Parts: sequence; C-alpha cells; structure tokens
Amino acid sequence: PAGRRPLLAGNWKMHTLPGEAAELAAAVRQGLEGQALSAEVVLCPPFTSLAAAGQALAGSPIALGAQDLVWGEFGAFTGAISAPMLRELGCRYVIVGHSERRQLLGETDALIQRKLEAALAGGLTPILCVGEDAAQRREGRTAAVVLGQVAFALAGLEPGQAAQVVIAYEPVWAIGSGTPATPGDAQAVAAAIRQLVARLHGPAAAAAVRVLYGGSVKPDNIAGFMAQPDVDGALVGGASLDGAAFARLVREG
Ligand code: G3P
Repeated sequence: PAGRRPLLAGNWKMHTLPGEAAELAAAVRQGLEGQALSAEVVLCPPFTSLAAAGQALAGSPIALGAQDLVWGEFGAFTGAISAPMLRELGCRYVIVGHSERRQLLGETDALIQRKLEAALAGGLTPILCVGEDAAQRREGRTAAVVLGQVAFALAGLEPGQAAQVVIAYEPVWAIGSGTPATPGDAQAVAAAIRQLVARLHGPAAAAAVRVLYGGSVKPDNIAGFMAQPDVDGALVGGASLDGAAFARLVREG
C-alpha cells in the first residue's frame, strides 16, 4: 500500500532439521515458480537450518531471514550469533523481539533495542515484533503497550534507519491460537504505529516503514489483512510450515 512493497514472512520457530528445511524451502519455491511476486517473500528457519534452506533458495527471489541475533561482530559471547554470521549465510532479514523471546526467555525492551540497532548496523533488515497479551487487551491497554514497545525500540534511531525497520504487530493472544485479530483491529493498530513513527522520525520515515500483522494468519484469511491500507504484509508461524499452504498464502496475499 502507498508505494510500500508488501512483505510476507514465514517464521518457522524451533522447527526443522536441515534436511527438512531444505525440503520445506524447496516446496515454497516450487509453489511460487513462475509467479510474478508482488510481495517480498522471506523464510526464517532456525539458525541450524539456515545454510540448508539458503541452498534450496539459491537463485530464487525468496529471501532468507534469521529469528534472532545479538550485537557485536565476533567475540566472547557464548551461544550467540551476530549479524556478520547471518549475512555470510545469505540472510537479509532478522526477527527481533518476538513475543516468545520476550515472555519465555526474558527479553526486555532495552535488550531488543540493542538487537535492533545491531541488525541495522550489520546490514540486516530487522523485523521488530510487538504486541499486547490477553490481559493487557482486556484492560484496554493495547495501544499503550504496543506503542510503548515501538517507541522504546525506535527512539534512538536516525530517521533513515527507522524507515528501514519492518514492524510486526503480533497480538500475543492471536499467536498459534487459531483466533486472529480482525483485519479492522490490525489496521487500527498499524495506523497508530505509523502515526507514532511520524511523531518520532517524521512523515517520510512513517510513509516508508512497513507494518505487518501476525497471529493465526492462514491462506484463507490473508486477503482481509492485505486489504488494509496500513497493513503491509504478514508474519506467519504455523501456516509457514507447510510449503504448499505458505505458497498459497503468498498467492492469495
Ligand atoms: O511470528 C509469527 C507468529 O508468532 C505467528 O504464529 O502460528 O499464529 O501464525 P502463528
């Protein structure tokens, strides 16, 4: 919408061994063969499957993304993976601040901000995830929570950097639940995010930033989200683990 190229990303989460990743990536590729892709398509396998998926996607328009990173390049940081390591494997995108990492692994806004800056500094496009949980929604705090997360992550960036960030609005209660937000609710939050980016970084950044919806997106409901003026695509979990289904979702989107 409004000159922004839509983006459809599959987040495979903690699924696939390398052989399975190669098969899944090949199935998505095959399902989209010969299609003129209006959207950018990104697959995000776990670290250990990046190389295999990348090989299966070589020479195709489908991009590779990782699910996390930390700052720095190389150094004493046991267990961590940095931007240059991901770029070398062919990644162009990286998810930052997914709610599963916030909730299950204790990631804070401050940590996520450092990761976002590391992704940008390291030449990767970050997909920043934000979203309220069920209790916060019940209490009417959706906008406060979501905009607070976005403001924390983006406040220190230059406008040119902010324009490159992809923001995925993923209400926690909608993830893996089979109950997505309505397209209208996704639009309302996406518009509020864009207004916040305008306040923080100006109208050009706000017009460029891509806002995705995530949470129980399927081939048969993607079109409703894509029809919203401020929703520029989707971050897809479960439905991205079936290559034919994800390819269908891309075609419907
Ligand atoms: O990051 C995508 C994700 O959290 C949504 O998962 O399974 O509801 O599509 P799912």
